[in-house]
Amino acid sequence: MVLSKESSSVLFHLLIVNELKKEYAQKIITSQYFINARSQAHHPNTTVASHTLGVVAVSLRLFYALEKLRINIDKEALTKAALCHDLGIVGRYDKFKNDFICCQRHPVDSVSVAKSIFPDIDKKTIDCIKNHMFPLTPIPPCCIEGILINFADKYCTFIETFLGKNTYPGKSYIDEV
Ligand SMILES: [Fe+2]
Ligand SMILES: [Fe+2]
Repeated sequence: MVLSKESSSVLFHLLIVNELKKEYAQKIITSQYFINARSQAHHPNTTVASHTLGVVAVSLRLFYALEKLRINIDKEALTKAALCHDLGIVGRYDKFKNDFICCQRHPVDSVSVAKSIFPDIDKKTIDCIKNHMFPLTPIPPCCIEGILINFADKYCTFIETFLGKNTYPGKSYIDEV
C-alpha cells in the first residue's frame, strides 16, 4: 500500500508520539531535568526540550526508514539517548565559563543525567550521548544509533537556527508529551 505524503506524515507523527509515551521515554520526560529543559532557551527559536524532541523525531524517522531496509537498530537506546543528549546543557550559564567549554562538557553532564535516571544504563546509550557533538568533540559515536543522533542533532540545529520559529522539528511534539 502506498500512502500519500500527508497520510505518511500523520502515521510517523503517531508512531513517534507512541514511542514518546513508552515507560522509558516518560521516565525522562517527567523528570525534573526535562521539566527544567522546557524553560531553557537553546538555539534561536527553541528550548532544550523542544530541540530534544526534534532530535528524537528525526532520529526515529531515520529508524523507520532503515527498518524497512532490515537494518537492525536498538530503538530504545536511540530514544533514550536522543532524549538525554542535551539535558546536561541545562543551567549552562551557571556551569560553563564559555561556549567552547559548554560544547566540550555538556555531553559528559548529559551522561550523568542519564545515569541518574537509569542507574543501569547500557554502554551503547552512554556512548551515543557522550559523543553526540562529534566532530566538535574528538571521538565519533561507536554505533549506528549514535550516528543517527549525531546527524539528527546537526539537522535540527540547522533548521532551528536558520528557518525560524514555525518550522523546527520538535514543534508538533512539545505540547503532546
Ligand atoms: Fe549537544
Ligand atoms: Fe542537541
